[in-house]
Amino acid sequence: MSWTNVCEVSHVKEEFPFSGTVGGKEIGIYLVDGEYYALEDVCPHAYALLSQGFVEDGKVECPLHEAVFDIKTGQCLREPGGRDLKRYPLRVVENRIQITLIEE
Ligand code: FES
Repeated sequence: MSWTNVCEVSHVKEEFPFSGTVGGKEIGIYLVDGEYYALEDVCPHAYALLSQGFVEDGKVECPLHEAVFDIKTGQCLREPGGRDLKRYPLRVVENRIQITLIEE
């Protein structure tokens, strides 16, 4: 499994996820209850970056049409999201967040 550096842990806050591009894919990195999560960042409904949406209680709301997703599971909790989000394995190595693009 090949791991790619995405950002430092200090770049990710509970209310302010990190948005980055890995292997041509836009990825959002979130912090919930002390754990980090990597999700596809482009909303499945249309083009909006979910990491720029409103984050609260482990959920992110799309800034464009207000679909809601569970950050830990990627589950679509409110339409018009259309489907669950892809999740990516993540690990922390010496304060660096790394992911691999194999979908969970
Ligand atoms: S683009 Fe996200 S709900 Fe429409």
